[in-house]
Amino acid sequence: MKKPIETTFKELFQKEPLTVYSPGRINLIGEHTDYNEGFVMPAAIDKKMIVAIAANRTRQAKVYSVDFEEEFAFNLDSFGPKKGHWATYIIGVTAQLQQAGYAVQGFDMVFGGDIPVGAGLSSSAAFEAAVGFALNTLFGFHIPNRSLIHYAQKAEHVFAGVQCGIMDQFASVMGKKGHVIRLDCRSMDFQYFPLNLPNHSILLIDTCVKHSLADSAYNKRRQECQEGVQAAKKNNPDIKSLRDMDLALLDTIQSDISPTVFNRCKYIIEENNRVVAASALLDQNNLKGFGEKMYASHEGLSKLYEVSCPELDFLVDFTKEQDYVLGSRMMGGGFGGCTINIVEKAKLKALKESIQPAFESRFGVTPKFYEVSLEDGTGLL
Ligand code: GLA
Repeated sequence: MKKPIETTFKELFQKEPLTVYSPGRINLIGEHTDYNEGFVMPAAIDKKMIVAIAANRTRQAKVYSVDFEEEFAFNLDSFGPKKGHWATYIIGVTAQLQQAGYAVQGFDMVFGGDIPVGAGLSSSAAFEAAVGFALNTLFGFHIPNRSLIHYAQKAEHVFAGVQCGIMDQFASVMGKKGHVIRLDCRSMDFQYFPLNLPNHSILLIDTCVKHSLADSAYNKRRQECQEGVQAAKKNNPDIKSLRDMDLALLDTIQSDISPTVFNRCKYIIEENNRVVAASALLDQNNLKGFGEKMYASHEGLSKLYEVSCPELDFLVDFTKEQDYVLGSRMMGGGFGGCTINIVEKAKLKALKESIQPAFESRFGVTPKFYEVSLEDGTGLL
């Protein structure tokens, strides 16, 4: 990270800020299941967004981005979306709080972070959570975390235009050091699982690509899942989401839906089952079995859900030939970003040294590596 965010704040605004951090996330398994009311298994990591904030007794919000070296100001009584600009997340969260009846006052803000943007580590969710937490603390709103998580998600829907699920904002706010979270995205019940990896590391390999169709394809997948649910509802009115369906039921509606919709639904139903099976394996400390579920998850994401890309498939396939990699799969929305890998610690170097040149010669891009640890969720710095 560049100059500490707090130092920049004091230089710019000549006062002491309140400083908040909010981490990025990984997801071990359970991809695209969150908006289908299914299960996910994310964790907060040691990469975060930092927001320094203080009240300024005006009706203006004045913000400076350390990473973009850019300022932005808006009036709290009249503002609109700024699609494609970093300010949209601040505006989006502010608008959600105002709509919920919280009297946001003028503020000065400086922010930055070390979560790579576009890598699928949810820098935007972390930013939204940090802004929400900062405003909540600064103005003493006493908004519970659960509501903050929903305001952050809604900011993404309305202001960034991505119909995301709840996983990213939840993981950023609720993360716990050394633990993964098993979250039921229907009931919002969750459990922390300790992740004991004495001989293994979690290594993310960043393709450093983000294909431009990512956001529109994401929203499209959501619609396709909904089509499957609508078709199933005709004879089974109690079905509310793919969470309520099994493969046998899906077979009965096969002729009513397109092959594409069938594949999307099949993947989601199977992935939900995988998360349940994978968490049992984790409980038994069966990492090998867990890793196999990760590979199966990737296969479904690539072939049935079609959210992978050649770069991600290449990285996953490469690891299949290395017996020191227990599991690997694409992570997050897809169409670029990172793979998540469980790798024997002693072989980390060997993996990097072999996969990097292979990836470079195939795609002409140098991948990045992040070895991550699991950390606490949003809080005061
Ligand atoms: C993005 C979304 C999440 C989730 C993942 C896919 O990160 O923001 O809600 O749907 O994609 O699992």
